[in-house]
Amino acid sequence: MKTLLLLSTALIAVPAAAQDQPVSTTNETIKPQLPSAIPSAIATSPDGSITVTVATDAEGHASYSVSRKGELIVSPSRLGFLFTDAPKFDRHLRIERVTRDKADATWTQPWGEWKTIRDNHTEMRVRLAETDGLKRMVDVVFRLQDDGIGFRYEFPEQPGFKTVNIAEELTQFAFATDATAWWKPAFEWNREEYLYNRTPLTGVGTAATPITLKLASGTHVALHEAALVDYAGMNVAKVEGNTLKAVLTPGAGAPKVTRTGAFTTPWRTLILADDAPGLYMSHLELNLNEPNRLGDVSWVKPGKFVGVWWNMITGKWSWATGPQHGATTARVKTYIDFASANKIPGVLVEGWNVGWDGDWFGNGNAMRFDTPTPDFDATELARYAKSKGVYLIGHNETGGSASHYDAQLDRAFGYARDHGIPAVKTGYVTDAGQIERVDPDGTARREWHEGQWMVNHYTRVVTTAAKYRVAIDSHEPVKDTGLRRTYPNWVAREGSRGMEYNSWAGKNPPEHEANLAFTRMLEGPMDFTPGVLSLKGSDDSDILSTIAKQLALYVVLYSPVVMAADTPENYAKYSQAFQFIRDVPTDWSDTRVLNGEVGDYVTFARRDRRSDDWYIGSVTDENPRALTVTLDFLDAGKSYTAQIYRDGPGADYKTAARHSIAFESKKVRKGDRLTLALAPGGGQAIRLKAR
Ligand code: NOJ
Ligand code: CA
Repeated sequence: MKTLLLLSTALIAVPAAAQDQPVSTTNETIKPQLPSAIPSAIATSPDGSITVTVATDAEGHASYSVSRKGELIVSPSRLGFLFTDAPKFDRHLRIERVTRDKADATWTQPWGEWKTIRDNHTEMRVRLAETDGLKRMVDVVFRLQDDGIGFRYEFPEQPGFKTVNIAEELTQFAFATDATAWWKPAFEWNREEYLYNRTPLTGVGTAATPITLKLASGTHVALHEAALVDYAGMNVAKVEGNTLKAVLTPGAGAPKVTRTGAFTTPWRTLILADDAPGLYMSHLELNLNEPNRLGDVSWVKPGKFVGVWWNMITGKWSWATGPQHGATTARVKTYIDFASANKIPGVLVEGWNVGWDGDWFGNGNAMRFDTPTPDFDATELARYAKSKGVYLIGHNETGGSASHYDAQLDRAFGYARDHGIPAVKTGYVTDAGQIERVDPDGTARREWHEGQWMVNHYTRVVTTAAKYRVAIDSHEPVKDTGLRRTYPNWVAREGSRGMEYNSWAGKNPPEHEANLAFTRMLEGPMDFTPGVLSLKGSDDSDILSTIAKQLALYVVLYSPVVMAADTPENYAKYSQAFQFIRDVPTDWSDTRVLNGEVGDYVTFARRDRRSDDWYIGSVTDENPRALTVTLDFLDAGKSYTAQIYRDGPGADYKTAARHSIAFESKKVRKGDRLTLALAPGGGQAIRLKAR
């Protein structure tokens, strides 16, 4: 008996045995058959909604396709590799073997947006083997959840192909229809720090991932990767029509990736959902990463922080020493006092160490990561912070001199440990492609932030920091691919345009955060540094936001470590609004996305991990909106006080009324409805305090 499967170009007859293959917890093998006898292999997700088909054609090209709820999402798309020193792996392939597996388990995040994560998936492993020539083979492993799929290549150890020098991956993503795409460019000088383009899919150039698509049918897709380890980051470029192809980030040498022996590539991931909120609710990225390798990580502390930062970003203070120096003992003490008085556990100090006085941008070779400047009394500040129940957060700006930092990692994190510093923010400020790598023989090379060598550098930093019980918040990072599951001390990254752009000319537009929620935030926590209630950047320039929106960002843009970026003086000025920042937690047991459209608006509800309180954050773009939400997530039978921080009369990001905010309090229960009125460029923040 044959089953017909509709692909974009042809009706392909699929052996019923392959399609009906029951999945089990143990691997079972379909006996190798003649190439023509296994034209395709099919896997379905646990609830049957997503189907993946792998096939080979008459020339032995291998392809995969993806359908969801009967809709073809990805038409047959190429699989394969180019190498710098061997023929490509692309033609004369046959499906030699298909094995299947499945799992349904839950695991606990030590910190996060959800405490419990369910990993319910089926797996299909397809062995592709060359029928002639070198007779090499590669397994393509597909994991199917009900909300998306991941696949990766697994290279077995094979004679004559021990060292694999990859010139390019030939993986393609041939979307079946046109779509609206939200994307930012890859390979441009400012790394990940670009605004999102919204174009038809056919208008995508070369894009970083994740790239988010809304298909003509309304189905939403996020294309990204998971578990980027010892490999080059993947970008995508348009081939023709709706087809994108993988483009790996280069390194300093000819191959983009060099691996020896058996290895796996990162997972290429497609989250699939009916709507934008569904994309955020997927756990695919985390589930495709290896479990925690660090053991007990109770020393990783989520929490808020303040610091001598915004005054430097706005140009009032400096990282360099001199009269404007921000990181002086006296100035840091005022921040410690402020943090302590407001029960904010962390104080970030940048510019505390030797090396900033010269030209550090793109040249961090003067940076010393264990040597404070003379006006920064590290011993006294460690003592003072401790006496006030506060810790300092360190900062290591490398200026892109990654080898110079590598050589100091133990000293840097030893210094942090010895001064009671539980977390370090790192930085790699240099243009794309300008990371300085110096090999042991003294050869200097230029690397890309997301090339294989830097991918390994970031991992070295995180694993070395873990030995000293230090958490890492990487700025100018490699993109996030869910590695916080494996290394839970990798608490946050920047990796997009954060608050700092609101200080400078060319500010983030009002739609930026509603873009981030469904693009950058699908990667994982972002250190955005919200909370500038003065709404003023450098030279007294206006930030394109309302105050209420700044508060909402604490719920919308998740990170376990979150800055209250404004100055103590400004928080004193806006003290009633500041109360929300004092109250809001940074660690959650549950998260719901109540509504949202990419780049337009979004509303999150999150439950505090340490109490029964819920928090709501809602933001809009330049358009005002009234969004009705149902409080169906609250506990039945409990009564809550909704402490509402909403845009006030006339609030508008374009006018002086951007500071207009209203405060309201009312009793609510499960099932009640609230209408959130958002001003242009505005937002709303609510604490639902359980009584
Ligand atoms: C850029 C980072 O994003 C910012 O937070 C930091 O203050 C500067 N680099 C200096 O390291
Ligand atoms: Ca930055």
